[in-house]
Amino acid sequence: MIVSIIAAMDRKRGIGVDNKLPWRLSADLKKFRELTMGHHIVVGRKTFESIGKPLPGRRMIVVTRDVNYKADGCDVVHSVEEAIELARGRGESEVFICGGAEIYAQTIGVADRIYLTLVDGEVAADTFFPEFDRREWSERESFYQSANEKNQYPFTFRLLVRERQ
Ligand SMILES: NC(=O)c1ccc[n+]([C@@H]2O[C@H](COP(=O)([O-])OP(=O)(O)OC[C@H]3O[C@@H](n4cnc5c(N)ncnc54)[C@H](OP(=O)(O)O)[C@@H]3O)[C@@H](O)[C@H]2O)c1
Repeated sequence: MIVSIIAAMDRKRGIGVDNKLPWRLSADLKKFRELTMGHHIVVGRKTFESIGKPLPGRRMIVVTRDVNYKADGCDVVHSVEEAIELARGRGESEVFICGGAEIYAQTIGVADRIYLTLVDGEVAADTFFPEFDRREWSERESFYQSANEKNQYPFTFRLLVRERQ
């Protein structure tokens, strides 16, 4: 099973503010939808509450330390390892780690791929994508999206594939 991180960050690695996304990037959301459709996706409890509902067509796994936590239509687990093993046990081919910052920080060491949107701007963020060593990763795919009425900032989408641990 491929373990993939999917994230969008600004020039200073910012990914969120006030438990929301700090931008409106419709082309990025479309790409997210296409890539994750039909797959298991893993989110931290805060990101789940920010989205507010299970995403259609995907099997959402919510990670929380709260043993009483319930999320209608989702699986609830209590560690990132448990989330990955749940997806693997169901025969998933590619599990998508969808944030937020806490969950990225705990999975970047085991991820095989990073689908990374580099937002060409600086936002007032309070949550950040973890540092990682670019030399461990090679770029397989890239495209550029200019800013327009549906995309607040220009961005570059990159697929990074791990070359070595
Ligand atoms: N730009 C992007 O691509 C992107 C993607 C996703 C999210 N975001 C943004 O990121 C922000 C949220 O990120 P965040 O770091 O604050 O929160 P988060 O990672 O979404 O969720 C954190 C929560 O996950 C649970 N958790 C974390 N590690 C755990 C572990 N080892 N075992 C069990 N539970 C664990 C805890 O839940 P409990 O407190 O319930 O125990 C913790 O409070 C929001 O602003 C969101 O919009 C951005």
